[in-house]
Amino acid sequence: MELMDALRLQWEWGADEALLDTPQDRRHAAPAPLSFPAPAADAPAKRPTQRPAPPRRAAAPSLAGPEEAARLAASCATLEELAACMRGFTGCALRDTATQLVFADGAADARLVIIGEAPGGEEDRTGKPFVGPAGQLLDKMLASIGMDRGKARIINSVPWRPPGNRTPTEAEIALCLPFLHRQIALIAPRVLLTLGAVAAKALLGADAQGGIRRLRGKWRQAHIEGLPTSLPCLPSYHPAYLLRTPLAKREAWEDFLSLRAWLETRG
Ligand code: URA
Repeated sequence: MELMDALRLQWEWGADEALLDTPQDRRHAAPAPLSFPAPAADAPAKRPTQRPAPPRRAAAPSLAGPEEAARLAASCATLEELAACMRGFTGCALRDTATQLVFADGAADARLVIIGEAPGGEEDRTGKPFVGPAGQLLDKMLASIGMDRGKARIINSVPWRPPGNRTPTEAEIALCLPFLHRQIALIAPRVLLTLGAVAAKALLGADAQGGIRRLRGKWRQAHIEGLPTSLPCLPSYHPAYLLRTPLAKREAWEDFLSLRAWLETRG
């Protein structure tokens, strides 16, 4: 029972991935000395006890910045090249804790691209975006307007799972943004749907001031690197938020009706 409680505690605190092959029992590590007794006034001065030097770590590989990501992304002429390039990109530390790259799902020539935040546990395991509980709700929402994930393209702002499902940082989002833009440019869709505040802010930048409650349901224009004209973009709630806040489903339903109307008349 004690072990189960300890495990549950780790899970609740976000430690839900094993990073080492062998478990480390840190409860029995030698405690560091807390203080040194003051030397007696007449005692000969002693050199302070030297702590053993910490083990040297191998120098971390230099992490590439958004410029390098942009250069790499721009060099990809196809979605396959882009996926391979992202798989080999070592500039984002999230790659080290994720199981794999979660590139995309759906049609390569989709009219509609749906952009989420970042993969969760289920997505990390399967390599596909939006396959967990939030993804199942998204599938139902798409079905309610006559769409399905096979006809759309589903991607994330950040393609690696952040540890413990934390929100990706602004630096991580900025680093992955060139890959997101490149994927959208290669698909060249007619319209974008962003789910949640992270995706809205990633794609709309300074035009996405305020929280998602203020942004949702209002059509904007997203400027995508490599596309000659901007794309209409509708921000809506993230399905994970809808699972926690069922009352917001009414507004999300309005957003999806607006998307359907757009697709029927202009898509
Ligand atoms: N939430 C996201 O934003 N993306 C996924 O792929 C899964 C959950």
